[in-house]
Amino acid sequence: MATDVVTMDKIVALCKRRGIIFPSSEIYGGIGSSYDYGHYGVLLKNNVKAQWWHSLLQERDDVVALDSAIIQHPRTWEASGHVAGFTDPLIDCRFCKRRFSADKLDQSECGHKPSVHPGEAPQCDLTDSRNFNLMFETTVGPVKEDGSTVFLRPETAQGIFLNFKHYLQFARKKPPFGIAQVGKSFRNEITPGNFVFRTREFEQMELEFFVPPEDAPKWHEHWLKTRFDWYVRLGLRQDHLRLRPHEQAELAHYAVATSDVEYLFPMGWSELEGIANRGDYDLSRHAKYSGEKLDYVDTANGRRYTPFVIEPSAGADRATLAFLVDAYDEDEIDGETRVVLRLHPQIAPVKVAVLPLIKKAGQPELAREIQHSLREDMQVEYDEGGAIGRRYRRQDEIGTPWAVTVDHQSMEDHTVTIRDRDSLAQDRVQIDSLRDELRRRLAAPWHSPKLED
Ligand code: GAP
Repeated sequence: MATDVVTMDKIVALCKRRGIIFPSSEIYGGIGSSYDYGHYGVLLKNNVKAQWWHSLLQERDDVVALDSAIIQHPRTWEASGHVAGFTDPLIDCRFCKRRFSADKLDQSECGHKPSVHPGEAPQCDLTDSRNFNLMFETTVGPVKEDGSTVFLRPETAQGIFLNFKHYLQFARKKPPFGIAQVGKSFRNEITPGNFVFRTREFEQMELEFFVPPEDAPKWHEHWLKTRFDWYVRLGLRQDHLRLRPHEQAELAHYAVATSDVEYLFPMGWSELEGIANRGDYDLSRHAKYSGEKLDYVDTANGRRYTPFVIEPSAGADRATLAFLVDAYDEDEIDGETRVVLRLHPQIAPVKVAVLPLIKKAGQPELAREIQHSLREDMQVEYDEGGAIGRRYRRQDEIGTPWAVTVDHQSMEDHTVTIRDRDSLAQDRVQIDSLRDELRRRLAAPWHSPKLED
């Protein structure tokens, strides 16, 4: 494996410098571990989510979509087990007033003496561990009264289970089939950190795939492979990805079996996505708590059963971070260090930059015409400010795969150059064929040039 120049500090600095992702509420001094996505960050994360939807809705016909409410009936969370069991053990230090997750003391820094772990400095005065529920609680209606307490969802999954019955009816689906959803989830994490890896507000991309119980192991295997391959297809280096089965003691309360897709982040191998066999836990629990029948009757043979659920559950922010980390690179051009995001073109926020070499002689007008002719097909950016080298660097930093330059020759023979972000090759093409050429490049298979290092 080649040595990687990337560090989390470099990613954080680049994201801030280029307005990709930055700390939230900065004019008030910020609010810990809360981030806003700027223009390029929105484009990037939208591309990640669009690729996820595409792989499920367009490339197959056994998955349908849902966008359920964030605030659901509070009984949901009793049935799901979150009220009773969605807790982390918490420890306070009476001396430094910091809070720690009791099972992550060995990964935490003492608030008074950061070179040691909590409890290791003489001044440390730790409380006993107590359980802390990670759900954010709020109230509906103007008055806080009995029955008005609700929760912000800690996973999107439960909205899918609540709607299972509807989908049997109006989507006319029968197992095996899946319901997919993307949306915000909220967890009052004790120790958020590592930039957008762990935050209190984040987006999930979840699929609940309903299958006959006896087929669950087979479908679990299917989704492990399918989801792993999705990351590889979108350019993550395969030697930075692995599947790790959970130990029995590690399994969530609902899971029969789980494997995580892990990525080698700068802080080490960490979970990107969990792929669980949830058995019939959720549908059975909601049937019990709601009194509704949530099983499936096979009209072919009259067999009635509660489907098992295979759940690939990914984080949109975590995936975006993995794509950024995997893409980050530095090289040297004309004696200067260049920062470049070698993103898969399908994921890149901007696909092509159109740049007039100089700001006169009709070049800006022609460049604008080209920009307008391309924007139906892809995200295009026009830039005429500063030396051409600096403009290329600006695009490299946000991962734009191609830069189209309009120069003196363009005005004479109606050609432009296409500069490739990774190879730095410049090809001259007719303006009339530019659109087709860029579409061809965008559709072509791609792998990270970092693999060749
Ligand atoms: N429905 C199952 C479920 O929610 P999970 O392993 O707790 O399972 C699934 O979460 C994915 O959601 C994780 O693999 C991660 O990508 C993302 N995720 C979970 N907690 C997160 C957090 N605090 N910040 C960012 N992403 C998070």
